[in-house]
Amino acid sequence: MKDPSFFELDTPTLIVDLDRMERNLKSMQEKACLAGVRLRPHTKTHRTPAIAKMQLAMGASGITVAKLGEAEIMASEGLDDILIANEIVGPIKLERLRTLARRVGRLAVGVDHPFHVQALSGVMAAEPRPLDIMIDVETGDPRTGIHPGKPTVELARLVDKAPGLRLRGIYTHDGQSYDAETLDEVRAINRQSQGLMLETADLMRSSGLAAEEISIGSTPSLLLDGIEPGITEIRPGTYVFLDADQAQLLGTYAFCAQTVLATVISRPTPERVVLDAGTKALTYYVQDKGVTRSTGHGRLKAHPDIFLDKMSDEHSSFDIPEGSGLEFPIGRKLEVIPNHACPTTNLYDVIYGVRSGSVETVWPVLCRGKSQ
Ligand SMILES: Cc1ncc(COP(=O)(O)O)c(C=O)c1O
Repeated sequence: MKDPSFFELDTPTLIVDLDRMERNLKSMQEKACLAGVRLRPHTKTHRTPAIAKMQLAMGASGITVAKLGEAEIMASEGLDDILIANEIVGPIKLERLRTLARRVGRLAVGVDHPFHVQALSGVMAAEPRPLDIMIDVETGDPRTGIHPGKPTVELARLVDKAPGLRLRGIYTHDGQSYDAETLDEVRAINRQSQGLMLETADLMRSSGLAAEEISIGSTPSLLLDGIEPGITEIRPGTYVFLDADQAQLLGTYAFCAQTVLATVISRPTPERVVLDAGTKALTYYVQDKGVTRSTGHGRLKAHPDIFLDKMSDEHSSFDIPEGSGLEFPIGRKLEVIPNHACPTTNLYDVIYGVRSGSVETVWPVLCRGKSQ
C-alpha cells in the first residue's frame, strides 16, 4: 500500500488526524449540550490557540488553562473567556495576572487557601474590575484543592469579603479516575466527586454565598459516565486527542488523533526495529496503574498491539512479533500513538493537521513551553 503523502515530512514530527480530532470535539460538545452544561475545555492538551478557537466555534463557552503563560498567549490570540484552573503564587506572577485581568473580558483563577485570597486581593483591590475566583476543591485526587463542605464554605466567605475579588464558584478535577482499577470504579469516582461538589454548593448557598459555577471533569469520567443535574460546567482536556492511555479505557485506538511520525533508522538484529523518536519526541511518560495503564512507551498506529518497549533520549525500539511476517525496513516511516498526549504536544513547535493522507493545515503550538 502507498504511504500517505504526509509521510514525506521529516521526522520526528507531530501529526493530528483532523477527522478523528473533530469527531472527539463534536462528541464531547454534544454530551455537554445534552446535559445542559457549558464546556470549557482544558487547552493544556493542545497548547494551540487555533484548536481552542475550533472548540469555541463548536460551542465551547470559554477555555481552561493551567498556566498564566498559556493564558497570556491565548489572550493575545483573542481568546476572551479564560479560567486559570490553578493557584497563582509570587509577586512576579501576581503582577502579570493583574495586567492580564485588564485585557481579558472574562478571567477567573483558582484558590485553595487563604494565602491566595489575601495575595490576589492585594493586587486586585485597586483595579477597576474585580477578578473572578473559583475555589479549587479536592474530591479525591490528592493534589491541590481544599476539602469539600465546611472548609470550602469558609474559604468562599473570605473570597466574598475580599476587596477586588468576586466569588464565581467551585471547581474540581477528579484525576483519580485515571488510577481506577475498573470502569465501574471510574463511574463511582465521577458520581462521588460530583456529589461532593453539589453538596458543597448547597452549603455555600444556604450560607448566603454565590455558587453560580460548579465545574467538574476529567476525560476518563466524561468518556464513561454522565453529568449530574446541578453541575454547570465541564473541563475535559485530553478528549481532544485521546492518547494510547485513554485507548486502554475505551478498548479501541480508533479515536486516537495524535501521532508522532518517526523513521526506522536502524535494524541491528533481524527482529529489532529502532526509531528516531525517543524521550525528546514522545516523552518517557508511563501511567503505572489503573484503567489507563500504559504498556511500553507508545503504540504503532498501524499495529497497535506493537508497543515501544525500550526508549532513550533520541531512540526507541520494538521487536517484530515472531511469525507476524511484518517488515520494517530502514527508512520506513511509522506513526506512533503517544501514551500521554499533553506533554508530547509540548515538545513540538507545530502540529501538522492531516486529512485523507495529506497535510491540510499547520498550526503553531504557540503556548509551547509557556509553563511559567
Ligand atoms: C484542573 C484540571 N481540570 C481539567 C483537567 C482535564 O483533565 P483531562 O485531561 O483528564 O480531561 C485537568 C488535567 O490535568 C486539570 O488539572
